[in-house]
Amino acid sequence: MSTASFDLLPSTNPAADAVRDNILAAPGFGQHFTDHMAHVRWTLDAGWHGHEVRPYGPLTLDPAAAVLHYAQEIFEGIKAYRHADGSVWTFRPEKNAERFRRSARRLALPELSDEDFIGSIKALLAQDHAWVPTPQSAADECSLYLRPFMIASEKFLGVRPAREVDYYVIASPAAAYFKGGIEPVSIWLSQHYKRAAPGGTGFAKCGGNYAASLAAQKEASDNGCGQVAFLDAAENKWIEELGGMNLFFVYKDGRIATPRLTDTILEGVTRDSVLTLAKDEGLTPEERPISIDEWREGAASGEITEIFACGTAAVITPVGELVTEEGPIRLAAKSDNEVAKRLRTKLLDLQYGRSEDKYGWLTRLV
Ligand code: COI
Repeated sequence: MSTASFDLLPSTNPAADAVRDNILAAPGFGQHFTDHMAHVRWTLDAGWHGHEVRPYGPLTLDPAAAVLHYAQEIFEGIKAYRHADGSVWTFRPEKNAERFRRSARRLALPELSDEDFIGSIKALLAQDHAWVPTPQSAADECSLYLRPFMIASEKFLGVRPAREVDYYVIASPAAAYFKGGIEPVSIWLSQHYKRAAPGGTGFAKCGGNYAASLAAQKEASDNGCGQVAFLDAAENKWIEELGGMNLFFVYKDGRIATPRLTDTILEGVTRDSVLTLAKDEGLTPEERPISIDEWREGAASGEITEIFACGTAAVITPVGELVTEEGPIRLAAKSDNEVAKRLRTKLLDLQYGRSEDKYGWLTRLV
């Protein structure tokens, strides 16, 4: 694949080394951004053009830009990892590029090629690679979180697909998504709000899905929980996903199950990787409908021995309890989350180049 050529407009005000080092020592999540961003413009007449890497900074948008009114927007989440030899790599970017195109089709946005998607990340990293943190130990999951996104920027208040669109990639040094790291997170069960409905946009990575999850996420925080779990809209029975992560259930007989993909569930790249790694570990992966009753009964009987959330941001994070309006659902025996930890180590070792990349999942950026 040849890399699309991006013009460079260098920042005249990049962060000083000491400022950047300070940020990299404790980056948090999504709070600090690198010196540059990548940008490509699309118009109906000219297609994709104007590939550039330019200084990070506020966008100039017309107040009538369609994205501000009708939420015609999609995004991705992908990370850059520093290996021990200083090189920088990313993980399965063609999966994100493919999902970005799927999201674009659902939101009536133009599709971006693999070449432009991966090329924009490479072009940004060519400038801002010093912002990729160096892990301090094998348990350290620091990385540079990349956020490609596409917005309808046409100035037009009629409701139809925009004829002017902008694509950007911004980058943010990141530590663990959850403050507690791999400490089990409590989950709130959303019993009134739905995230997605059949025929809707649930499978697409669009801002609207996340906006729809926020009132439930607020309920979760008000109830001391770090994330919210959604049930399906049709029957209010089937587990779908969390606000921004997929879910896995580990059974005492070695099965490991995740809800089967439907058009209301986001196809996570980490979810897909876990299914492969689990098989490698001698577990039996299953993709099938999982009901809230199965969660309740499996937890009570001891059939379910672990539950974990996974996603690019969350990596693999154990779930402690499910808090519902009727009371908490807890596993019968306190779990040491051995399977979640084992899969997490396997995934991180691969991403950080500490184990052989036997699936060819890594792409070198720098
Ligand atoms: C990701 O995992 O990359 C996401 O976009 C989810 C969000 C919770 C940050």
